[in-house]
This record gives sequence, C-alpha cells and structure tokens, in this order.
Amino acid sequence: MAQIFPKALNPIAKMIVLGLPLLAGATGVTGAAFYRSSYATGVGEIPPQPVAFSHAHHVGQLGIHCVYCHTSVESSGFANIPPTKTCMNCHQQIWQGADLLEPVRNSYKTNTPIEWNRVHNLPHYAYFNHSIHVAKGVGCVSCHGRLDQMNLTMQSSTLLMEWCIACHREPEKHLRPKEEVFNMRWDASMAGKNEATGKPYTQRELGLELKEKHRVRDAVTLTNCSMCHR
Ligand code: HEC
Ligand code: HEC
Ligand code: HEC
Ligand code: HEC
Ligand code: HEC
Repeated sequence: MAQIFPKALNPIAKMIVLGLPLLAGATGVTGAAFYRSSYATGVGEIPPQPVAFSHAHHVGQLGIHCVYCHTSVESSGFANIPPTKTCMNCHQQIWQGADLLEPVRNSYKTNTPIEWNRVHNLPHYAYFNHSIHVAKGVGCVSCHGRLDQMNLTMQSSTLLMEWCIACHREPEKHLRPKEEVFNMRWDASMAGKNEATGKPYTQRELGLELKEKHRVRDAVTLTNCSMCHR
C-alpha cells in the first residue's frame, strides 16, 4: 500500500487527527471539573462579614434556637436574617462595651440595617422554598451542615442541581421527625427501637416510614423540571 503522508509528517498528522479532539476533550473535562470545584460552587468559602457573628457561640454554646433569629424559616420560602433589634435584646446588657459589637450598636443607633454578605445564593431561575422542607422533615443540618460548630458562616453543600435532585430522588435518606428539624446533633439511632426488626432504627427504615407519614410525593413528581424551574 502506498503511503499517503511522508513519514516526517506523521507526528503532525497524528496531532491533528488525535491531538485536537483530545485537547477539546481535555478542556471539556476541565470545564466540568471547574463547574463542580469548590471555587465555582462556593463550598467552604467564608465571605467577609461586617460583624464576626458566630453560630458556634450563639447556637452551639448558648443554645439559642434557629427560629429566635430566623423567624420566617417555617412559614415562608425565604429565611430572614435577624434585624439588629434581635441582637440588642441581649447586647444592650451583654458585652455592651465590646469593640466587636460597635457596628451592631451603630446600626441600632442610626437605624440602618447591618449589611451582611450572603453566604448562599441560588441563581434566580431556580426556585427554592424553606417552609416546605421544614414541614416535611428535612433538617437544617442536611443542607447547611454543622452551623453550631462554625465561627463564621460558610456554605457546606454545592447547591448544584444534581445535589437537589439526589435528595428529591431518595428523600428517605434524609427525612427526620418534624420536631428534630432544628436539632444539629440528631441521627436516626435516636429514634429508638424499630418494632419490626427489634433493633435501633436505621435512617433508611425510619425515612421510608416518614415518607408515608409526611406524605412526600414520588421521585418522578419531585424531579420534574417544573418543580424547581417555574
Ligand atoms: C442569634 C441569632 C441567630 C441564631 C440563633 C441563628 N442564626 Fe443563622 N444567622 C444569623 C445572622 C446574623 C446571620 C448572617 C451572618 C452570617 O452569615 O453569619 C446568619 C446566617 C445564617 C445562614 C447563612 C445565610 C446566608 O447568607 O446564606 C444560615 C444558613 C443560617 N444562619 C442558619 C441557621 C441555623 C440552621 C440556625 C440554628 C441551628 C441558626 N442560623 C441560628 C443569626 C442567627
Ligand atoms: C440571647 C442572647 C443573645 C442574642 C440574641 C445575641 N447574642 Fe451575641 N452574644 C451573646 C453572649 C452571651 C455572648 C458572649 C459569648 C461568649 O463569650 O461565650 C455573645 C457574643 C457576641 C459577640 C462576640 C464574639 C463572640 O461570638 O463571642 C458578637 C460579635 C455577637 N455576640 C454578635 C451578635 C449579633 C450580631 C447578634 C444578632 C444577630 C447577637 N449577637 C445576638 C448573647 C446574645
Ligand atoms: C433542602 C435544603 C435546605 C434546608 C433543609 C434548609 N435550607 Fe436554608 N437554604 C437552602 C438554600 C438552597 C438556600 C439559598 C437560597 C437562595 O439563595 O435563594 C438557603 C438559605 C438560607 C438562609 C439565607 C436566607 C435565604 O432564605 O435565602 C438562611 C438564613 C437559612 N437558609 C436558614 C435555614 C434554617 C434555619 C434551616 C432549618 C430550619 C434551613 N435553612 C434549612 C437550603 C436549605
Ligand atoms: C436533603 C433533601 C433535599 C434537598 C437537598 C433538597 N430538597 Fe427540595 N424537597 C425535599 C423534600 C422532602 C420535599 C417535599 C416533597 C413533598 O412535599 O412531596 C422537597 C420539596 C421541594 C419543592 C416543592 C415545593 C412546593 O411548593 O411544592 C421545591 C421547589 C424544592 N424542594 C426545591 C429544591 C431545590 C431547588 C433544592 C436544591 C437547591 C432542593 N429542593 C434540595 C427534599 C430536599
Ligand atoms: C430539585 C430541583 C431541580 C429540578 C427538579 C431541576 N432543576 Fe435544573 N437546576 C436546579 C438548580 C438549583 C440549578 C442551579 C444550580 C446549578 O447550576 O446546578 C439548576 C440549573 C439548571 C440549568 C442551568 C445550569 C446548567 O446545568 O446548565 C438548566 C439548563 C437546568 N437546571 C435544567 C433542568 C431540566 C431540563 C430539568 C428537568 C429534567 C431540571 N433542571 C430539573 C434545580 C432543579
């Protein structure tokens, strides 16, 4: 058989035939990896805040309930950030001279809200609603991680569509009794003994029972595009 290309061209020809698609493939892979990297998703990032507010101190140590500050989380789609008045309920007495709290006192005096930087931020075309998750027994910790151990607040889940869908497909992996939604330390073994097996509940067994009890819809309905893109 006659050679079509002279031998000397071979490496170049190879680069054109094999190399280019490989290169394109590589950028594709890098693109996907970037999309999922913590840099792109914001996981683990701590945005700077005007006041060094610590959930570890206020929740973990002092035991203040989430709803004392995030009053609307059970009743509305949006979980509010507390107004300065809520902080002053305590800080008019406690640590009232501390430098760390100067921006809080100043906000109160001048009646201008503290400008907290958002930690989580979904794109506007994705619809999210807190109240339904709370009502169906999805714990804050399942999406926000151990806030009771965080000094400055950071994002612990990717918030990517695949993350939302993984749970919408198998919510039984995460459902808990409604009264445990705010409990950062709960796990299924605390639900006692499963009469059916005679052993402590596993998350799966309890989750499947709660899925019925809380009337959680099926995976086909919950992964329908129009559920989150309205
Ligand atoms: C004493 C008041 C207080 C309590 C109690 C409290 N928080 Fe917060 N929370 C704040 C403040 C202030 C911010 C805004 C500053 C920040 O991001 O750290 C915030 C921010 C957050 C954010 C990030 C919001 C964003 O910008 O995306 C989440 C999530 C959150 N809180 C969840 C919780 C959960 C869950 C609990 C209960 C386990 C809780 N908080 C208890 C005051 C409170
Ligand atoms: C229920 C009472 C209470 C409320 C409400 C409260 N705090 Fe505190 N806060 C405390 C106490 C008590 C301490 C001292 C904690 C310590 O030293 O262990 C403290 C400490 C602090 C500190 C010092 C640093 C630290 O974490 O120890 C800052 C800053 C602070 N609070 C900000 C806020 C802000 C901002 C709000 C409102 C969003 C707020 N607090 C609401 C009780 C409260
Ligand atoms: C199913 C996952 C999920 C659960 C459960 C959940 N959150 Fe969130 N949370 C999110 C997402 C996603 C955002 C970002 C929403 C956005 O950017 O529009 C968010 C944002 C927040 C914010 C910022 C304000 C807002 O509404 O955007 C606060 C405060 C907050 N969550 C508190 C809580 C508390 C308190 C609980 C428990 C009662 C809780 N969250 C349970 C996923 C969850
Ligand atoms: C850890 C589990 C979990 C995660 C993570 C989760 N969800 Fe859900 N979601 C649920 C459950 C459970 C329901 C209740 C389903 C029902 O009522 O049938 C629900 C319901 C919803 C609903 C229905 C609201 C309504 O009014 O019918 C929307 C919208 C939604 N989720 C959006 C999201 C988005 C967007 C994300 C990701 C940012 C997300 N969810 C992440 C468990 C989760
Ligand atoms: C449970 C909630 C949920 C469901 C169901 C859902 N999405 Fe999404 N989707 C999201 C969230 C949250 C984002 C933004 C985060 C991200 O980019 O991953 C998103 C982003 C997107 C994007 C833009 C980002 C990208 O990946 O290019 C497209 C396109 C999209 N969704 C299409 C769909 C289609 C088509 C369906 C139905 C097969 C669907 N979504 C079902 C939550 C959902």
